[in-house]
Amino acid sequence: MEKDYHNFAVIPGDLNGITVTDAALKVADAVQDKLTLPVKHEIFNYDAAYFLKHDIKELRDSELNELKQYDQIFLGAIGDPTKIKPGILEIGILLKIRQEFDQYVNLRPVVLPEGVPSIIVGKDYRHINFEICRENSEGLYVAKGEVKNAGTDDEVGIQEMHCSYKGVKRLAEFAEERARARKKGDKPELHFVFKNNVLTYAASPWSRVFEEYKQKDDLNISYMHIDAFIMQMVLKPEQFDVVITENMFGDITTDLGAVIQGGMGTAVSGNLNPTGTFPSMFEPIHGTAPDKWFEMDGSEYIPDTFVPEKVQLVKPEAALLSYAMMLEQSKEVKAADAIKEAVLANLRDKEYATKSLDTLVDQVCESVKR
Ligand code: IPM
Ligand code: MN
Repeated sequence: MEKDYHNFAVIPGDLNGITVTDAALKVADAVQDKLTLPVKHEIFNYDAAYFLKHDIKELRDSELNELKQYDQIFLGAIGDPTKIKPGILEIGILLKIRQEFDQYVNLRPVVLPEGVPSIIVGKDYRHINFEICRENSEGLYVAKGEVKNAGTDDEVGIQEMHCSYKGVKRLAEFAEERARARKKGDKPELHFVFKNNVLTYAASPWSRVFEEYKQKDDLNISYMHIDAFIMQMVLKPEQFDVVITENMFGDITTDLGAVIQGGMGTAVSGNLNPTGTFPSMFEPIHGTAPDKWFEMDGSEYIPDTFVPEKVQLVKPEAALLSYAMMLEQSKEVKAADAIKEAVLANLRDKEYATKSLDTLVDQVCESVKR
């Protein structure tokens, strides 16, 4: 039987993650009338406290199997360094879900909205409008390697980069579809970004897929080294339409992408399983911002030093846009567009920087109800 509602799993996470998830759920509530099917949200408190309580280092099969029942997953942000050493939750929740659910594309648009000033002099919304499709299942993120001769002068840390032909090819296929749908220029443009002058083994499948794609007459296909790419992102961002790159390269370039499109508080991320075998996961790319939650003693965060009023300084836009991306993937275009439009109005607001979280969220809720 066809389901008559959308079934979304929600993982608020820690600190700022909880704050922005609350904001997203308020907006979800406000936009209800624009949906074609109702939405149900189930909250999963997979956070630092949960990991401590159950004494686990990663989500277990039972938790993963439960999450697999949902249509999509919304994630706030995870990590609380006063409870758990950084790295554990990131690997045990975020990377675990990306892997286990075969979310092999991390779609990260780099789109500066019209009316929002760029930090790059002379560039505006007409120049900064492209998408990075980050390979999200392999590359340097396969967590393989070893430490040889640990503790001696001959210690060597080895981290493996796995790039498979199938992995690059399915990413390119996804990106090709995006480029065709975007219709940015006369011909859809696909940039392959890697470092094939040095990483010669891992480059082999990248070059092979690149050569195959060059045969397609109705696409413009180019290649750029990663170092040249980050320079060109700033110098001439208008040349890009859809970009595909290795996992770690995609991680690094999308932080730069966030900054040139209006800041970390605007950047969204869809961890996609395009085949639909497992749910996809949507998250703002900012983290939990522990520096805003705790006083510091040297480089250590001091637990329980949070001042509740500070929550009002949090900006919810990236989370709201991620929620909108999730709705879009669920074919709820009207509701997604309403959220996007309302968020844009916030970002264009001259008073934006000084407005409180509650005000910003209220403005979006009012707008999407109209
Ligand atoms: C991101 C984050 C993660 C990554 C971390 C938290 C593991 O930086 O989503 O970009 O490296 O992928
Ligand atoms: Mn990152």
